[in-house]
Amino acid sequence: MIQIRDEIASDVAAREHLLDACFGPSRVLKTSQRLREGRLPARGLALSAVRDEKLVGTVRLWDVETGCGRPALLLGPLAVDPALQGAGLGGSLMREILGRAAAYGHGAVLLVGDAPYYARFGFAQAKADALYMPGPFERERFLGLELKAGALAGAEGVLRATGAFEALPEVAAEAAAAAARRRAA
Ligand SMILES: CC(C)(COP(=O)(O)OP(=O)(O)OC[C@H]1O[C@@H](n2cnc3c(N)ncnc32)[C@H](O)[C@@H]1OP(=O)(O)O)[C@@H](O)C(=O)NCCC(=O)NCCS
Repeated sequence: MIQIRDEIASDVAAREHLLDACFGPSRVLKTSQRLREGRLPARGLALSAVRDEKLVGTVRLWDVETGCGRPALLLGPLAVDPALQGAGLGGSLMREILGRAAAYGHGAVLLVGDAPYYARFGFAQAKADALYMPGPFERERFLGLELKAGALAGAEGVLRATGAFEALPEVAAEAAAAAARRRAA
């Protein structure tokens, strides 16, 4: 049985391994990555699919803003273990994360991906046609979805990241040490 749940810290190594398997190591050169690096995913919007304690799927959403100041989420990467592709897990991850995003009050989701796949969830190129990624991107793969009617109407300009910053490793290590000291006290 496959469970979809919030991503936890111990998923990270397996998630990165899965993404390398699905997209290859050059994935880190994509412009989408520029909007994610150094940031945390949007609150409550990083999911893992797990089967028998093995990570078999991942999807995350990231806070961004359009050039005209409109908030949105950037989706990606979405990936499913190659051994399980075509069995509906990608769809389940998409429906779960889009449902959560809507429940948290977000208005719009953008992504760069295969239009024939994402169209089934309502994504369309027309919703992003006045928007730009902050680097090279394929226009026909840049798609938008409104979770609230009109959330992308008139949206234009270059996307920029607005998510919370990830803690630097040394800051995170110091916070963990301080927490351990507090527990021991
Ligand atoms: C794309 C991906 C997340 C889909 O997950 P999945 O669990 O395999 O997908 P589902 O089982 O929910 O859906 C399968 C359907 O999607 C279609 N599909 C899968 N990948 C597709 C793609 N890249 N383009 C168009 N259609 C695609 C399948 O043909 C199938 O269609 P059908 O329902 O008409 O038979 C997964 O295949 C994956 O991780 N691929 C590697 C990464 C990748 O190529 N990503 C490209 C998208 S940006």
